[in-house]
Amino acid sequence: MLDVPSSSFTRHIIKDERITMELWIVSLSHFLHISATIVWIGGIFMNLMVILPGSKTALESATLVRKLMKEVGQRFTPLANMSILILVVSGLILLYTNRNFTSFGDLLKSWNILIFCKFAVVTVMACIHFYRGSILSKKIIESAAQANEAHTAGLRKLSLDLVKINLLLGIAVLVFTAVLLSS
Ligand code: HEM
Repeated sequence: MLDVPSSSFTRHIIKDERITMELWIVSLSHFLHISATIVWIGGIFMNLMVILPGSKTALESATLVRKLMKEVGQRFTPLANMSILILVVSGLILLYTNRNFTSFGDLLKSWNILIFCKFAVVTVMACIHFYRGSILSKKIIESAAQANEAHTAGLRKLSLDLVKINLLLGIAVLVFTAVLLSS
């Protein structure tokens, strides 16, 4: 007889510990998700809207602007890589602990469609980011080494256009997220 209340008490404690643990994991995931968003999207915004135009005004030649942007890019890329990894891991944790989510297969539910769209746009953004960093940047170096100026200028323009596209896609992801959070 004495066993009944004590085992139900133990079950309560275990349940409470599980809830506390889940609360910690979800809170940490939100914190990391928001921090990585600030670093990645905020970083692209800062580069395009502040550092690039500022350096064009302050520095005398296009060569110096390129040199500065190369240095900025080399420092920003590892931070962006880390942010993408954090966003994916924390995003998946937030997804599986979210009561609105059933499955990507259940596209009749508008919440699932929105998160699927967000996931698709994030995948395109990550592909653009890694294409610029690992393929396009090498092509630019090779083309510049061959003194093929017109081709190099074309590749540099493509690289900058891709950053602009990623900023727009990043803003689209934030719009999807705003709707997700409000529904
Ligand atoms: C695999 C990628 C991703 C997944 C699976 C994912 C998933 C999620 C989920 C489930 C939420 C919570 C929504 C809710 O509570 O209703 C969320 C929130 C959020 N996401 Fe993402 N996300 C991903 C990538 C991104 C990216 C790339 C960005 C930045 C552009 C981003 C920005 C945000 C923001 C700002 C929030 C609101 C803050 C928060 O709830 O922590 N997410 N995400």
